[in-house]
Amino acid sequence: MNTKMAPPRVFKNYINGEWVSSVSGHTFDNFNPANRRELVGVFQKSNQQDVAEAIQAAKDAYKSWRIIPPPKRGEILYRAARMLVERKEAYAEQMTREMGKILDETRGDVQEAIDMTYYMAGEGRRLFGQTTTSELPNKFCMWMRSPIGVCSLVTPWNFPMAIPSWKVMPALICGNTVVMKPATDTPLSTYNLVQTLEEAGVPRGVVNLVTGSGSEVGTAMMTNDDVRVVSFTGSTEVGRKVSAACAPTFKHSCLEMGGKNIIMVMEDANLDLAVEGALWGGFGTTGQRCTASSRIALHKEVYKDFVEKFVARARSLKVGNGLDPSVQMGPLINESQLKTVEQYVEIGKNEGAKLLCGGERLEGGDYDYGWFYSPTIFGDCDPQMRICREEIFGPVVSIIPCGSIEEAIEIGNGVVYGLSSSIYTRNVNRAFQAMRDMETGIFYVNAPTIGAETHLPFGGTKQTGNGHREASTAALDFYSEWKAVYVDYSDKLQRAQIDT
Ligand code: UN1
Repeated sequence: MNTKMAPPRVFKNYINGEWVSSVSGHTFDNFNPANRRELVGVFQKSNQQDVAEAIQAAKDAYKSWRIIPPPKRGEILYRAARMLVERKEAYAEQMTREMGKILDETRGDVQEAIDMTYYMAGEGRRLFGQTTTSELPNKFCMWMRSPIGVCSLVTPWNFPMAIPSWKVMPALICGNTVVMKPATDTPLSTYNLVQTLEEAGVPRGVVNLVTGSGSEVGTAMMTNDDVRVVSFTGSTEVGRKVSAACAPTFKHSCLEMGGKNIIMVMEDANLDLAVEGALWGGFGTTGQRCTASSRIALHKEVYKDFVEKFVARARSLKVGNGLDPSVQMGPLINESQLKTVEQYVEIGKNEGAKLLCGGERLEGGDYDYGWFYSPTIFGDCDPQMRICREEIFGPVVSIIPCGSIEEAIEIGNGVVYGLSSSIYTRNVNRAFQAMRDMETGIFYVNAPTIGAETHLPFGGTKQTGNGHREASTAALDFYSEWKAVYVDYSDKLQRAQIDT
């Protein structure tokens, strides 16, 4: 019997239209978080020189890409979108192997990339500007979008194809060129996206992929003078560093960072619906979404009922390998994330929160080969507890009792983050009051805090973001600059503000 294993697949960087090894000569391994015995692939451990070459390629390619008619750029994106549709199942399976979330969710992740690609392809025939009047006779005025240049795109591991697509598609349709760095835990899905773009006909140098660490590759991508735009999704702590790195040369930066999102459940809510929403919002993607519903402000009148149902449903969730169709929640991404969750659960207990279920690492059998943690709920929380203020990024939900919608809103807004929030109520007045008063960039009525669609702005207020939005036409505002144009056809000197 042949017991030899097939050699692991080695994935390369994509620079200037070629698949190349890092000049460092080093690689890193990417393992399945549900099964550490499974090596997903070997990737390039790139260095500053690789980044410099990728940025140079993007800079050279920008000269011709920026003047290709946007509808033509759109045709390439349409082709890419169709190819992603054909490859959806294969890419979803590979994503579950590298990221851990269940197949239903990785299919959704690829679908989000498909939606974004089609959406931005269509923008090739819009990219609307405006015309306006002039205060002077025989003068025509308009403003139009211009591309900016080379964009550095740094993406997280929780949405390994969707989030890169939010950045690369609007960047390309606007006429920019890009260098992409995926998270070291999930390079394969971004690799798949880039390979699809290559096969769809993106010219050499327009899209470049460099894998490796944030400290080496990411830093080089943010400090190079030829980079004009940086888009980053990740922690608030790293975002602060990105912002500082961009400041000396005034690179435009779009930062999408942490969240501590709240579901407010009022006493008139459809409780069963609210329980289902809280379950999906809290434990979907194992709580590893910046939009995760990690807090619940729960009206005292329905506290007992809701908690009973919610805890029973959380306990019944099947945790395991996301490739198994009966599994409802996958592992955490890596050991350090698991440790963070363990630490926060200890913090919660010490702060006096009541552990209602979970609170332990899952062990035994296949669990021993992955980073599995049980769905965890804390009750009787005080809004000032750290587990109610800090982003945990794991399957931990904190329930805070409240007595009114005003109190719920105050609790909801009482954190440094402002990504997403939601209310469960049947009272339209309350729904509108919360819609007006919540300081978050995203708000849901009778739905959890997750589930953003690609044609609406995505992003948050306060320390979640820096005022930009991704997705929708808002993304076009980030990846282009306005050029105001005045055309004087009077054949004489006309002075604004003077000859009017
Ligand atoms: C994230 O939370 O990190 O709205 C991104 C959602 C998804 C995207 C989430 N469409 O939950």
